[in-house]
Amino acid sequence: MTAICIDHVSKRYGPPGAPLILGDIELEIPEGQFVALLGSSGCGKTTLLRIVGGLETATSGRVEVAGRDLGTTAASRRRALGDVGFVFQEHNLLPWRSALANVLLPLENRKVPRSERRAIAEAMLEVVGLSAASAKLPHQLSGGMRQRVAIARALSYDPSVLLMDEPFGALDAQTRDNLNLELQRIWLEKQKTVVFVTHSIQEAVFLADRVVVMQAGPGRIVADVPIELERPRGIDVLATPEFARYTGVLREALTHQAATDERGSAA
Ligand SMILES: Nc1ncnc2c1ncn2[C@@H]1O[C@H](COP(=O)(O)OP(=O)(O)O)[C@@H](O)[C@H]1O
Ligand SMILES: [Mg+2]
Repeated sequence: MTAICIDHVSKRYGPPGAPLILGDIELEIPEGQFVALLGSSGCGKTTLLRIVGGLETATSGRVEVAGRDLGTTAASRRRALGDVGFVFQEHNLLPWRSALANVLLPLENRKVPRSERRAIAEAMLEVVGLSAASAKLPHQLSGGMRQRVAIARALSYDPSVLLMDEPFGALDAQTRDNLNLELQRIWLEKQKTVVFVTHSIQEAVFLADRVVVMQAGPGRIVADVPIELERPRGIDVLATPEFARYTGVLREALTHQAATDERGSAA
């Protein structure tokens, strides 16, 4: 089944004369697929993710998530929010709430019965390997642990789709590698559909079943590359010739982007 259908979506902020940020995006994502959205800063990745998550409306075109049209009204988009979990670069945890209480929050908001909430939240912390830290406040956790809490929070209400916007972009390289391994493990366990925004070619190839490359002016898809590396993938995959071949193909797609952008701005 199709988990996400993006049908001729375009977006501009402001009046009709304002520049197009996204132009005619078409993308279908089957259920359970891990898709990386790769592109340089400003090409519209966050905007596209926010439209898919119902946080922003498309100027034209339509989006379906889990077979449900997001529509254009606040109410229809709010309903769609039940189908998606978000993880942002900034963890957005409430500083006065413990790790556990942060994971409980969406369950409280969704009126999950009190008797069930705690068991669900504890199970999610276990999935991300943080059972021992459940009573800690965000400032008592490392950056990597905070992002893991954010993942547990996003998974807590069992959304069918996980939208991740450069979730590990602010972390050091080693923590990032560890979290990429963790995320792969969680994904293999949960089989969610994931859209993962990154500007790291390596991260995209390591994590994804499929890398969708975007370029700016207006934001559009310029390449769609299936990644056929066996899973589970270990860090050693980074040193293989297949991995290098994929990063080469994607670097090419991004370089081509830079060339067209230059032509665009010179015109
Ligand atoms: N709320 C907004 N109002 C006006 N322009 C915006 C808004 N959000 C993003 N933009 C513009 O849209 C373009 C794409 O931004 P964004 O989607 O954040 O790109 P990316 O995530 O790929 O870096 C940028 O030029 C940005 O300045
Ligand atoms: Mg962004």
